[in-house]
Amino acid sequence: MYFFVKVRLSASIICADLAELGSQVKKLEEAGVDMLHFDVMDGHFVPNLGIGPVVMEWLRGLTSLPFEAHLMIEQPERYVQQFVEAGSQIVAIHLEATNDFRTLARQIRKLGASPSIALNPETPVEAVVPFLDEVSQVLVMTVQPGFTGQRLVKHTIAKIARLKAAIDSRGLDIDIATDGNVSFANAPRMVSAGASLLVCGTSSIFSPELTILEGVRRLHRALSRAAPPAGG
Ligand code: DX5
Ligand code: ZN
Repeated sequence: MYFFVKVRLSASIICADLAELGSQVKKLEEAGVDMLHFDVMDGHFVPNLGIGPVVMEWLRGLTSLPFEAHLMIEQPERYVQQFVEAGSQIVAIHLEATNDFRTLARQIRKLGASPSIALNPETPVEAVVPFLDEVSQVLVMTVQPGFTGQRLVKHTIAKIARLKAAIDSRGLDIDIATDGNVSFANAPRMVSAGASLLVCGTSSIFSPELTILEGVRRLHRALSRAAPPAGG
C-alpha cells in the first residue's frame, strides 16, 4: 500500500558547509526543505558550543524559510527574546533546562513565536505531558544533544509512539519533531511512530557523499515507504 505522509524537513544548519552557508541555504530552499534548525549550545547544558543569534540574523535576510532556535543552554530565558528578534518562528526549550517551562512558553508566544518543548533521550514522555497545552511542537532528541554524527538512541522510537498517543488522546494538534541521526533508515521508523517534522543533519541532507538535493530526494523516497502511524 502506498502511503506518503506529509512530513516536513528541517535542515540542521550546524551540519551545513559553514564556509558556504549562504549558497547552502539557497540549495536547501531549491531542494524543498521546509525549515532551518539552529543548534544553540552554551558549553554547560551540553559540552559544545553552537550557533549564535548573529548567524541567524544574517541568514534571516537571505531566506523566507521559517527558523527554529534549539536552545541547548542553561537559563534559556536569558536568550529567548534575542533569538526571536534574530528571526526565529519556533523556539525550543529543554524541559531539563528550566523549572518554569510554562512561564517561558507564554513569554515566547507573547514575543510572537511558537514554543517547543525539547526532551533528552532519558527524559520520559510523562514529563512533558503537563505542558502539551502550551506548545506547538515537541522536539524529541533521538541522540544525546550536542554533537552531530551520533547513533540513534534506540528506545526513542517507542517514545515517539507513546508521545503521539498522549497527544492524540488529548485531541491536540502538535508537531512531533525528531532531532539526531535522522538517517534514511531511521526516518521512516520515526514517521511511522508519529514524527511529523524531521531535523536532518549529517545522516541525510548533509550526508558527505551526496549533494543536498540528492539527500532530500533520497529521504523522500525512504519516507514514501513509511507505514502510517497508529491512529493516523
Ligand atoms: C544533536 C545534533 C543534531 C544534528 C545532527 O544536537 O546536533 O541536532 O541535527 O544531525 P546528525 O545526527 O544527522 O548528524
Ligand atoms: Zn537541534
